[in-house]
Amino acid sequence: MRKRLVIANWKMNGSLALADEVLADFSAKSNVDVIVVPPSVYVSRLIESAEGSFDVGLQDVSQFENGAHTGDVSAAMVAELGATAVLVGHSERRGEHGESDATVAAKGLQVLAAGLMPVICVGESLAERESGKATARVRAQIEAQADCLRFGGEIAIAYEPIWAIGTGKSASALEAVAMLREIRGVLREVSAERADGIRILYGGSVNGENAAELFSHDEIEGVLVGGASLDTEQFAAIIRAADV
Ligand code: 13P
Repeated sequence: MRKRLVIANWKMNGSLALADEVLADFSAKSNVDVIVVPPSVYVSRLIESAEGSFDVGLQDVSQFENGAHTGDVSAAMVAELGATAVLVGHSERRGEHGESDATVAAKGLQVLAAGLMPVICVGESLAERESGKATARVRAQIEAQADCLRFGGEIAIAYEPIWAIGTGKSASALEAVAMLREIRGVLREVSAERADGIRILYGGSVNGENAAELFSHDEIEGVLVGGASLDTEQFAAIIRAADV
């Protein structure tokens, strides 16, 4: 089993004080890859002080290389700072900012071209799950990223069912594993050569209590953590659970 990846997505939460608290907590290294993804204004602060105990990522990036795009940040700028990963296609970006699969794909390609790792987020809504369309939805979202998947460079996929995000109701480990296997199958169809190099993560109400059960399954190669990543003790417990 390869090294697991635990990512903290602070979303639009946290503060400089939290950044300092997190830094104090991550001095110990574990056999887990950890990426902290704070709001972009805190990225430099975290990178300067992390001293390699963990990596730092961004929550979003422009789909364009550069130019007149007020408010956007390019992947090259992210790379210049020393961040290593960028979330693309989070359901909150897709939902609140109308990001289509095509936009997500363009962002993923920018991230890869800058030598960074895109964490491509996919996941179905509650209505899609209840009407038996979850698998088809997630398959389509992955297939739409074919150009990225074939591009080369490190990629992670995060399966985050929308109904499990911020609700306290995680998918069961078996529901997560079933979808992760499905995703692995689509990756192999899209790029047999690259599929097995891609880590597939689960996200949605992961916390210090349910992490061990999730990580009892080898298919769960990491987690993308929202709310519980703001609590340094919870987040440390998740990292310990991943370290098996
Ligand atoms: P929660 O862990 O708060 O459910 O958020 C999950 C998520 O969206 C991480 O990207």
